[in-house]
Amino acid sequence: MILVTGSAGQIGTELVVELRNRHGPENILAGKHRTPLPDEIASSGPSQIVDVSDPEQLKSTLLNYGITKIFHLSSILSALAESDIQRAHQVNINGVFNVLNAALESNVEQVIIPSSIAAFGTDTPRELTPNDTIQRPSTVYGISKVFTELMGNYFYSRFGLDVRGLRLPGVISWKTEPTAGTTDYAVAMFYGAIVGDKYECYLRPDTALPMMYMPDAIKSLLDLSDANITNLVHHSDFNVHAMTFTPSELEKAIKKINPKFHITYNIDPLRQSIADSWPASLDDSAARKEWGWKPDFDMDSLVNDMYQNLENKLI
Ligand code: SER
Repeated sequence: MILVTGSAGQIGTELVVELRNRHGPENILAGKHRTPLPDEIASSGPSQIVDVSDPEQLKSTLLNYGITKIFHLSSILSALAESDIQRAHQVNINGVFNVLNAALESNVEQVIIPSSIAAFGTDTPRELTPNDTIQRPSTVYGISKVFTELMGNYFYSRFGLDVRGLRLPGVISWKTEPTAGTTDYAVAMFYGAIVGDKYECYLRPDTALPMMYMPDAIKSLLDLSDANITNLVHHSDFNVHAMTFTPSELEKAIKKINPKFHITYNIDPLRQSIADSWPASLDDSAARKEWGWKPDFDMDSLVNDMYQNLENKLI
């Protein structure tokens, strides 16, 4: 059985559905903590409260359900983590350690944990950021993701636990809203355009950040999980890239669909400084070579699909 932690979150809600389609609903345990699960997930298969800060509860869940693989998605995103660093430490650092340790003490064979572009910092080359480069993040979220990558690689080399991870960029989706990330302006801009033809952006118009559409994010997690381990040189720290755009470029693309849309700017210094410390684009040749990573969506196909689906959902 496969456990997905953070099943009520932006990625979790979609990953659980895809895994249940592939492996049968009864074989996917939707783990949640505070946020309630959407009906689609709660009613279509097993679910369980999973507290990643409680090692005993975690271990007994893994043993009771016979879990052999974990997608560990619960995480406090960048902006929220800055406003509550204790909680970020508990979930993103202690939680990751507890999950890896409980995996080792049970029958889990593989753990997938996403890292993030936040694992880089201002000392990192911003354009075509190499896979293996300087990582000195300036946010508690970024620090926790470097910890995750290093600890994942450590559990693999020291204990032989198959831990894998990739550095997701801003993930754009219409089903479940993200919670307090820095890249989330892009999702919010679509909501603004559809609901009231306007959006107030907290990042400068020229802030270039890497982005990915949800179907590609799901594909990246599943393809990495399915990759033949003998082809992997890296384990918990793959760059994956799909596209780069700025708020102003996204505004133009949305205007092609909704000419009445307009955007104003009210810069949030905290989120702007976070965005300025992250890469604009990534060299993902290691992921392409080692497990065949290739995104399906570019900016135009993302904007059209996202706008249409969100409009159907909201109106
Ligand atoms: N989307 C995340 C954030 O903005 C980055 O991993 O926090």
